[in-house]
Amino acid sequence: MPNSNTLPAPALPLDMIIFGGAGDLSVRKLLPALYMAHLHGNLPPSTRIIAVGRHTYDRAGYIEFVQERSQPFIEAKNLEPEAWQAFLGMLNYVAMDVNDVSSYAELARHSRPGVERAFYLATAPTLFTSICDNLAACGLVDSNSRVVLEKPLGHDLASAQEINLAVGRHFNESQIYRIDHYLGKETVQNLMVLRFGNGILEPLWRAPNIRSVQITVAETVGVGSRAGFYDGTGALRDMVQNHLLQLLCIIAMEPPVSLDPDAVRDEKLKVLRSLRRMSLGDIARDTVRGQYVSGAVNGEAVKAYRDEPGVPADSRTETFVAMRTYVDAWRWANVPFFLRTGKRMQKRLSEIVIEFANPPFSIFPDTPRNAGNRLVIRLQPEESIQLQLMAKQPGSGMTMLPVSLNLDLQSAFSQRRAEAYERLLIDVVRGRLTHFMRRDELEAAWAWADPILEGWEELRERPLQYTAGSWGPDASAALLAREGFSWME
Ligand code: BG6
Repeated sequence: MPNSNTLPAPALPLDMIIFGGAGDLSVRKLLPALYMAHLHGNLPPSTRIIAVGRHTYDRAGYIEFVQERSQPFIEAKNLEPEAWQAFLGMLNYVAMDVNDVSSYAELARHSRPGVERAFYLATAPTLFTSICDNLAACGLVDSNSRVVLEKPLGHDLASAQEINLAVGRHFNESQIYRIDHYLGKETVQNLMVLRFGNGILEPLWRAPNIRSVQITVAETVGVGSRAGFYDGTGALRDMVQNHLLQLLCIIAMEPPVSLDPDAVRDEKLKVLRSLRRMSLGDIARDTVRGQYVSGAVNGEAVKAYRDEPGVPADSRTETFVAMRTYVDAWRWANVPFFLRTGKRMQKRLSEIVIEFANPPFSIFPDTPRNAGNRLVIRLQPEESIQLQLMAKQPGSGMTMLPVSLNLDLQSAFSQRRAEAYERLLIDVVRGRLTHFMRRDELEAAWAWADPILEGWEELRERPLQYTAGSWGPDASAALLAREGFSWME
C-alpha cells in the first residue's frame, strides 16, 4: 500500500463537517483521529472542523466537552499542549435539527466559501437522505465536496440501495467514502502486501492446496451502552456483512491489476458476487446464532445480554454468529470459509487461519495423522504471522509435532501505527478511495446477507445461549467438527 503520508496534500483549505459531532463515535474515534492527523501535519493548513449536533453547545461549551470527553482517548504521550490547543482552535459547533432545511443556513454561515468540504455523516443512516438533500438545497455541495458515510449503511439491501440512490443524487461515486474501519487497520492493509508482495504464497493460494479458511473476530466487550442500536442490528449486520466479508474479500480476491481504487474494488466485488447464496436448508445447517448469558470475562463477572441496559428481556438478537460459506469460483472450489464473530468471548482476537492440505500420504507410522500446515495471520490484539510446520520430535522414533515460524510485526517495525480512523480520514482529505467501499460492493454484501437474515426470521429460532467468556455456543464447534475441522483457539 502506498503510504498516504507521501501523497500530495489538497491545495484548498478544508472544512470537515461532522454530523453527529457530539456523538459516541466522534468522541471516541473521530476527534482523536483528527487530532493525531493534525499532530503529524496531515491536515491542510487552516482546516476547520465543524461539529453538528442536537445539543445546544456554544463554541466554548463544545470545546470544553471535547477536552473532557475526547481527550482521554488520546494517549498521554501524544498530547502536545501546543498542538492540542491549536486543534481545539479548529473546532466549531452548530446546533441544528438536520431534518429542518432552514437550520442549514447557520451551517452555511460557518463554512467558508471556496474550500473543500468533507461531510462526515456519523448519524443513524435513516438521516443520510435528508442531510444530503438539505446540504444540496443550501448550496453546500459542489465538485470539491466529499461525503463520508459511516456504517451501518442500511439494514438490508433495499434500505442500502435507497441510501445510495439518495446520496448519489448530490454526490458522484468518486465523492463518496463508505467507511468500513477494518479497511483502515494497518494489519488489514498488510494482508494485501502479504498476498501480493510475496511470490511464494500465490501458487499455494488456491484449492486444493488450501483445505479451509477461518476468519474469527472475537471481542470481549459486551453491548455496553449501545443497546438502542445493537438490539435492532445483531452480529450479522454489525460485523459479518461488513468487517468479516471485507477480510474474506482480501483473502479470496484475485490479484488486482494495480492499487487504483476501482482495480481493487472490482476484484473484491467479484468475490462478493461469488459468495454462495444460502438456501433455508443451508442456513439451518451452516449457521449458528448465539446470545451471551452471564459469565466472566478476564476474571470479571459480566451480565447476560438480556440484562444489559436497554435490551428487551425477550430479545432474540444474536451477539454471536458462526457460519460456513463458500466462494464459488475456480480458485476456491469446495474450500469452506468458516466465519465467526461474537461479543463477550473469551479473548479479544481477530485472526485468519489458512489451513493447507495435508500431504496425500503419510510415511510416518508414529504420527499417521498430520496436524496440518497453517498460516495464522493475527490482526488483533497484536499483529503477527505464524507458519505452522511439522517437525521431528527429538528422539529415536519418527514422531512429528507442529512447530511455528513466528513473525512478530510489532518488533519488525518500530514506526508508529496510526489508528484506522486516522488513516481513513487522511485518505478522505487526500482523495484516496481504495480503502472505502464502492456502491456495488456494499449492495453485493447485502444481497448475500439478506437471505440469511430472512431465513433466520422464517426459522424463528431463538439464538443459542453461550456463557460470557466462552468461545460461543457448542454448536459452533460442532459446525466444524462435522466435517473434520476445528476452530483454532
Ligand atoms: C464496529 C461495531 O463496527 O466494530 C462494533 O459496530 C464493534 O460493535 C467494532 O465492537 C469492533 O471494532 P474493533 O476495531 O474494535 O475490532
